[in-house]
Amino acid sequence: MNQNELKALVGKEAVKHVQDGMTLGIGTGSTVRYMIDALGQRVAKEGLKIVGVATSDRSAQQAESLGIQIKQLDDVDHLDLTIDGADEIDSNFQGIKGGGAAHLWEKIVAINSRKNMWIVDESKMVEHLGKFPLPLEVIPFGSTHVLQKLDKMGLHPAFRLTPDGHHVLTDSKNYIIDLHLGRIDHPQQLAQTLNGIVGIVEHGLFLNIVNTVIVGHQDGPEVLHARD
Ligand code: A5P
Repeated sequence: MNQNELKALVGKEAVKHVQDGMTLGIGTGSTVRYMIDALGQRVAKEGLKIVGVATSDRSAQQAESLGIQIKQLDDVDHLDLTIDGADEIDSNFQGIKGGGAAHLWEKIVAINSRKNMWIVDESKMVEHLGKFPLPLEVIPFGSTHVLQKLDKMGLHPAFRLTPDGHHVLTDSKNYIIDLHLGRIDHPQQLAQTLNGIVGIVEHGLFLNIVNTVIVGHQDGPEVLHARD
């Protein structure tokens, strides 16, 4: 199986955990695209009744195109389960997200969800976080000064740009700065530092959030329980 087939495998596996009547957080990314397809099939074939809350405009559009009802987060009173992808997951089930510039909405949805499930191909499982650049969503106003501050702190920041040199914009119309750290030895400490910098709306460290991880391997999906 190639990487896309592994992503499709975990997407299909994840929707087996979706039950009738659930309010479901729907993540963002190429793995989640497969999950949304599989969810759409269950809605069409089984008449599964769920309400989805999407973590990006693109996930909302895909879900609605498949007949999945989408509501805004503020219009639901709780979320039963959120299924999302991840860029890296370490041996303590801490994660980096935001490779698709959606981590702000993803984190807001995740912390309002009773359970969180991440679906990844096996390449995302790592010993230490940080090889994948850590995304920060930043307010455009004054963002160059935020970048300079991060640079002085030795955090190797770079604005995320489109191929034609414009800032990548999030769904909230903010910019993304990626930190090229190589290895993050103290994720909690780094998260606290980043939380204290004015202008950073949210970082992509997802610490103590996930309950279940489904990993796609060549010989099938593996379900790992992080915490209850
Ligand atoms: C979106 O910003 C991200 O957090 C994604 O969930 C993450 O990047 C995983 O995406 P892929 O499934 O495309 O690798």
